[in-house]
Amino acid sequence: MGKLSRIGVAIDSELLKRFDALIAKRGYVNRSEAFRDLIRDVLVQTTWESPDSQVVGTVTLVYNHHVRQLSDKLTGMQHEYHHNVLSTMHVHLDHDHCLEVLVVKGKASVVQRVADSLIATKGVKHGRLAITTSGAGL
Ligand code: NI
Repeated sequence: MGKLSRIGVAIDSELLKRFDALIAKRGYVNRSEAFRDLIRDVLVQTTWESPDSQVVGTVTLVYNHHVRQLSDKLTGMQHEYHHNVLSTMHVHLDHDHCLEVLVVKGKASVVQRVADSLIATKGVKHGRLAITTSGAGL
């Protein structure tokens, strides 16, 4: 962490009351950490908006493994992007359904394409890309 700067923020009292209620619910012990997290979150999102920036994220997929060739198709796509898929976890949710979590890394545009292709594959019931950061520079 760099040098600390103190800032004063003028904010509508009603808005501040709502903010305080929200951060208390989320377990923040003070406003400063909540503000820092909000700023970092916006910075991470902004990074993802630059197609060439390096990003980290996770892709969660839920699918029925009885769908013909779906597991093979999803595995094939992950091999195609093996430089971007760092790790996968597979959970057999029940007799029919599988949940996979992939850790993805690389150029934002490529990682987004990998996530979109996997999520859009026929038979995938639900998919979500969660964006995060390597933490450098935050
Ligand atoms: Ni399974």
